[in-house]
Amino acid sequence: MNIILLGPPGAGKGTQANLLVEHHGMLQLSTGDMLRETRKADTELGRRVAAVMDAGELVSDEIVSAMIDAKLSDMGDDVGAIFDGFPRTEAQARALDDILAGHDRTLAFVIELVVDEEALVDRVTGRFTCANCGAGYHDRHKQPETEGVCDKCGSTEFKRRADDTEETVRTRMKEYRAKTAPILPFYEERGIVHRVDGMAAIDEVTSAIEKVLASA
Ligand code: AP5
Ligand code: ZN
Repeated sequence: MNIILLGPPGAGKGTQANLLVEHHGMLQLSTGDMLRETRKADTELGRRVAAVMDAGELVSDEIVSAMIDAKLSDMGDDVGAIFDGFPRTEAQARALDDILAGHDRTLAFVIELVVDEEALVDRVTGRFTCANCGAGYHDRHKQPETEGVCDKCGSTEFKRRADDTEETVRTRMKEYRAKTAPILPFYEERGIVHRVDGMAAIDEVTSAIEKVLASA
Protein backbone atom coordinates (compact mmCIF):
# COMPACT_ATOMS: atom_id res chain seq x y z
CA MET A 1 0.00 0.00 0.00
CA ASN A 2 1.26 3.49 -0.87
CA ILE A 3 0.09 6.53 1.06
CA ILE A 4 0.81 10.25 1.33
CA LEU A 5 0.95 12.05 4.68
CA LEU A 6 0.10 15.67 4.06
CA GLY A 7 0.20 18.56 6.52
CA PRO A 8 2.04 21.77 7.41
CA PRO A 9 5.41 21.87 9.23
CA GLY A 10 5.11 20.20 12.61
CA ALA A 11 1.78 18.50 11.83
CA GLY A 12 3.30 15.17 12.85
CA LYS A 13 4.06 13.61 9.45
CA GLY A 14 7.47 12.29 10.51
CA THR A 15 6.19 11.10 13.91
CA GLN A 16 3.33 9.14 12.35
CA ALA A 17 5.45 7.81 9.47
CA ASN A 18 7.93 6.37 12.00
CA LEU A 19 5.12 4.60 13.83
CA LEU A 20 3.67 3.18 10.60
CA VAL A 21 7.12 1.88 9.68
CA GLU A 22 7.26 0.11 13.06
CA HIS A 23 3.73 -1.31 12.91
CA HIS A 24 3.35 -2.17 9.23
CA GLY A 25 6.86 -2.66 7.86
CA MET A 26 6.26 0.12 5.36
CA LEU A 27 9.08 2.45 4.28
CA GLN A 28 9.16 6.19 4.96
CA LEU A 29 10.20 8.34 2.01
CA SER A 30 10.84 11.77 3.51
CA THR A 31 12.15 14.34 1.05
CA GLY A 32 13.05 16.54 4.04
CA ASP A 33 15.34 13.79 5.41
CA MET A 34 16.81 13.16 1.97
CA LEU A 35 17.55 16.87 1.53
CA ARG A 36 19.12 17.08 5.01
CA GLU A 37 21.52 14.33 3.87
CA THR A 38 22.21 16.21 0.63
CA ARG A 39 22.99 19.46 2.45
CA LYS A 40 25.63 17.78 4.61
CA ALA A 41 27.83 17.32 1.54
CA ASP A 42 30.33 20.06 0.75
CA THR A 43 29.13 20.35 -2.85
CA GLU A 44 27.50 23.04 -4.97
CA LEU A 45 24.16 21.17 -4.71
CA GLY A 46 24.53 20.74 -0.93
CA ARG A 47 25.10 24.47 -0.45
CA ARG A 48 22.18 25.41 -2.71
CA VAL A 49 19.80 23.04 -0.90
CA ALA A 50 20.92 24.37 2.51
CA ALA A 51 20.24 27.97 1.50
CA VAL A 52 16.74 27.17 0.23
CA MET A 53 15.84 25.10 3.30
CA ASP A 54 17.11 27.68 5.78
CA ALA A 55 14.98 30.31 4.06
CA GLY A 56 11.93 28.03 4.48
CA GLU A 57 11.37 27.89 0.74
CA LEU A 58 10.91 24.86 -1.53
CA VAL A 59 13.69 23.01 -3.32
CA SER A 60 13.08 22.49 -7.06
CA ASP A 61 10.46 19.98 -8.16
CA GLU A 62 12.96 18.17 -10.41
CA ILE A 63 15.44 17.51 -7.60
CA VAL A 64 12.91 16.08 -5.13
CA SER A 65 11.02 14.08 -7.76
CA ALA A 66 14.27 12.44 -8.91
CA MET A 67 15.10 11.58 -5.29
CA ILE A 68 11.74 9.84 -4.81
CA ASP A 69 12.06 7.94 -8.08
CA ALA A 70 15.53 6.70 -7.08
CA LYS A 71 14.33 5.58 -3.63
CA LEU A 72 11.44 3.61 -5.10
CA SER A 73 13.85 1.89 -7.48
CA ASP A 74 15.85 0.69 -4.46
CA MET A 75 12.77 -0.70 -2.67
CA GLY A 76 11.25 -4.16 -2.90
CA ASP A 77 8.02 -4.17 -4.94
CA ASP A 78 5.99 -5.57 -2.05
CA VAL A 79 7.02 -2.90 0.47
CA GLY A 80 4.50 -0.09 0.98
CA ALA A 81 5.67 3.53 0.70
CA ILE A 82 4.77 6.39 3.02
CA PHE A 83 5.39 9.69 1.26
CA ASP A 84 6.26 12.22 3.97
CA GLY A 85 6.65 15.82 2.78
CA PHE A 86 6.17 14.89 -0.88
CA PRO A 87 4.41 15.95 -3.06
CA ARG A 88 4.42 19.62 -2.07
CA THR A 89 3.39 21.29 -5.35
CA GLU A 90 1.03 20.47 -8.17
CA ALA A 91 4.02 19.67 -10.43
CA GLN A 92 5.26 17.18 -7.81
CA ALA A 93 1.80 15.60 -7.54
CA ARG A 94 1.77 15.05 -11.31
CA ALA A 95 5.34 13.76 -11.25
CA LEU A 96 4.39 11.30 -8.49
CA ASP A 97 1.61 9.86 -10.69
CA ASP A 98 4.17 9.15 -13.43
CA ILE A 99 6.75 7.80 -10.98
CA LEU A 100 4.22 5.45 -9.36
CA ALA A 101 3.03 4.21 -12.74
CA GLY A 102 6.65 3.53 -13.69
CA HIS A 103 7.01 1.33 -10.61
CA ASP A 104 3.62 -0.42 -11.03
CA ARG A 105 2.32 1.18 -7.86
CA THR A 106 -0.95 2.93 -7.09
CA LEU A 107 -1.84 5.45 -4.44
CA ALA A 108 -4.26 4.14 -1.82
CA PHE A 109 -4.77 7.16 0.45
CA VAL A 110 -3.83 10.77 1.07
CA ILE A 111 -4.04 11.44 4.79
CA GLU A 112 -4.29 15.10 5.68
CA LEU A 113 -3.26 15.96 9.24
CA VAL A 114 -5.48 18.87 10.23
CA VAL A 115 -3.84 21.17 12.78
CA ASP A 116 -3.87 24.58 14.41
CA GLU A 117 -1.02 26.68 13.00
CA GLU A 118 -0.23 28.64 16.18
CA ALA A 119 0.21 25.40 18.10
CA LEU A 120 2.58 24.24 15.38
CA VAL A 121 4.92 27.18 15.85
CA ASP A 122 5.28 26.08 19.48
CA ARG A 123 5.78 22.43 18.50
CA VAL A 124 8.44 23.14 15.91
CA THR A 125 10.46 25.89 17.61
CA GLY A 126 10.78 23.82 20.82
CA ARG A 127 11.84 20.50 19.36
CA PHE A 128 15.30 18.93 19.51
CA THR A 129 16.62 15.41 18.97
CA CYS A 130 19.34 13.19 20.32
CA ALA A 131 22.33 13.50 17.99
CA ASN A 132 23.15 9.82 18.51
CA CYS A 133 19.83 7.90 18.32
CA GLY A 134 17.40 10.50 16.95
CA ALA A 135 14.98 10.34 19.92
CA GLY A 136 12.75 13.43 19.90
CA TYR A 137 12.38 15.94 22.75
CA HIS A 138 10.77 19.31 23.35
CA ASP A 139 11.88 22.34 25.42
CA ARG A 140 8.47 22.84 26.96
CA HIS A 141 6.65 19.50 26.63
CA LYS A 142 9.16 16.67 26.76
CA GLN A 143 12.54 17.17 28.42
CA PRO A 144 14.75 14.11 29.01
CA GLU A 145 14.17 12.59 32.47
CA THR A 146 17.71 13.53 33.49
CA GLU A 147 18.53 16.99 32.19
CA GLY A 148 20.93 16.86 29.23
CA VAL A 149 20.99 13.04 28.98
CA CYS A 150 19.06 11.09 26.32
CA ASP A 151 16.52 8.72 27.93
CA LYS A 152 17.02 6.12 25.23
CA CYS A 153 20.79 5.93 24.69
CA GLY A 154 22.47 8.06 27.38
CA SER A 155 24.08 10.43 24.88
CA THR A 156 24.61 14.04 25.98
CA GLU A 157 24.68 15.45 22.44
CA PHE A 158 21.50 16.98 21.07
CA LYS A 159 20.73 18.87 17.87
CA ARG A 160 18.18 21.26 16.43
CA ARG A 161 17.19 21.82 12.83
CA ALA A 162 18.55 25.02 11.28
CA ASP A 163 15.09 25.75 9.82
CA ASP A 164 13.19 25.53 13.13
CA THR A 165 13.35 29.25 13.96
CA GLU A 166 10.05 31.09 14.30
CA GLU A 167 10.70 33.23 11.22
CA THR A 168 11.52 30.24 9.01
CA VAL A 169 8.62 28.19 10.36
CA ARG A 170 6.24 31.00 9.40
CA THR A 171 7.68 31.07 5.86
CA ARG A 172 7.35 27.27 5.65
CA MET A 173 3.70 27.57 6.65
CA LYS A 174 3.13 30.25 4.03
CA GLU A 175 4.67 27.96 1.42
CA TYR A 176 2.38 25.17 2.59
CA ARG A 177 -0.74 27.31 2.27
CA ALA A 178 0.28 28.75 -1.12
CA LYS A 179 1.69 25.68 -2.86
CA THR A 180 0.90 22.46 -1.01
CA ALA A 181 -2.66 22.76 0.35
CA PRO A 182 -3.91 23.56 -3.21
CA ILE A 183 -2.96 20.02 -4.35
CA LEU A 184 -5.68 18.51 -2.13
CA PRO A 185 -8.47 18.91 -4.76
CA PHE A 186 -6.27 16.96 -7.20
CA TYR A 187 -6.64 13.95 -4.90
CA GLU A 188 -10.14 14.75 -3.63
CA GLU A 189 -11.44 14.17 -7.15
CA ARG A 190 -10.26 10.60 -6.79
CA GLY A 191 -11.99 10.16 -3.42
CA ILE A 192 -8.81 9.12 -1.61
CA VAL A 193 -8.36 12.03 0.84
CA HIS A 194 -8.98 11.33 4.53
CA ARG A 195 -8.77 14.03 7.20
CA VAL A 196 -7.34 13.20 10.59
CA ASP A 197 -7.24 15.49 13.64
CA GLY A 198 -3.51 16.15 14.08
CA MET A 199 -4.08 18.02 17.37
CA ALA A 200 -5.09 14.83 19.18
CA ALA A 201 -2.52 12.87 21.22
CA ILE A 202 0.09 11.04 19.14
CA ASP A 203 -1.40 7.57 19.77
CA GLU A 204 -4.90 8.81 18.93
CA VAL A 205 -3.65 10.21 15.64
CA THR A 206 -2.02 6.83 14.94
CA SER A 207 -5.30 5.00 15.68
CA ALA A 208 -7.20 7.30 13.33
CA ILE A 209 -4.66 6.62 10.56
CA GLU A 210 -4.78 2.87 11.23
CA LYS A 211 -8.55 2.99 10.76
CA VAL A 212 -8.14 4.59 7.35
CA LEU A 213 -5.55 1.96 6.32
CA ALA A 214 -7.85 -0.84 7.50
CA SER A 215 -10.62 0.47 5.22
CA ALA A 216 -8.57 -0.41 2.11
P1 AP5 B 1 10.42 18.63 5.99
O1 AP5 B 1 11.55 17.96 6.63
O2 AP5 B 1 9.45 17.84 5.19
O3 AP5 B 1 9.71 19.50 7.09
P2 AP5 B 1 8.21 19.99 7.32
O4 AP5 B 1 7.20 19.60 6.29
O5 AP5 B 1 8.33 21.42 7.60
O6 AP5 B 1 7.75 19.11 8.48
P3 AP5 B 1 8.48 18.82 9.84
O7 AP5 B 1 9.48 17.75 9.67
O8 AP5 B 1 8.93 20.10 10.46
O9 AP5 B 1 7.25 18.34 10.68
P4 AP5 B 1 6.42 17.01 10.70
O10 AP5 B 1 5.06 17.23 10.13
O11 AP5 B 1 7.20 15.83 10.19
O12 AP5 B 1 6.22 16.90 12.27
P5 AP5 B 1 7.00 16.02 13.35
O13 AP5 B 1 6.49 14.62 13.29
O14 AP5 B 1 8.46 16.24 13.23
O15 AP5 B 1 10.96 19.78 5.01
C1 AP5 B 1 11.98 20.69 5.40
C2 AP5 B 1 12.37 21.56 4.22
O16 AP5 B 1 12.91 20.73 3.15
C3 AP5 B 1 11.24 22.34 3.53
O17 AP5 B 1 10.99 23.55 4.17
C4 AP5 B 1 11.82 22.52 2.11
O18 AP5 B 1 12.79 23.54 2.06
C5 AP5 B 1 12.52 21.20 1.87
N1 AP5 B 1 11.65 20.18 1.26
C6 AP5 B 1 11.26 18.99 1.82
N2 AP5 B 1 10.48 18.30 0.97
C7 AP5 B 1 10.36 19.06 -0.15
C8 AP5 B 1 9.65 18.88 -1.37
N3 AP5 B 1 8.89 17.80 -1.60
N4 AP5 B 1 9.74 19.86 -2.30
C9 AP5 B 1 10.50 20.96 -2.10
N5 AP5 B 1 11.19 21.20 -0.95
C10 AP5 B 1 11.12 20.25 0.01
O19 AP5 B 1 6.44 16.68 14.67
C11 AP5 B 1 6.85 17.96 15.09
C12 AP5 B 1 6.94 18.05 16.61
O20 AP5 B 1 5.67 17.89 17.19
C13 AP5 B 1 7.81 16.96 17.24
O21 AP5 B 1 8.49 17.53 18.34
C14 AP5 B 1 6.81 15.89 17.69
O22 AP5 B 1 7.29 15.15 18.79
C15 AP5 B 1 5.62 16.75 18.07
N6 AP5 B 1 4.35 16.08 17.78
C16 AP5 B 1 4.00 15.35 16.69
N7 AP5 B 1 2.72 14.93 16.76
C17 AP5 B 1 2.23 15.43 17.93
C18 AP5 B 1 0.95 15.35 18.57
N8 AP5 B 1 -0.09 14.68 18.01
N9 AP5 B 1 0.80 16.00 19.75
C19 AP5 B 1 1.84 16.67 20.32
N10 AP5 B 1 3.07 16.78 19.77
C20 AP5 B 1 3.26 16.16 18.59
ZN1 ZN C 1 19.69 9.01 22.22
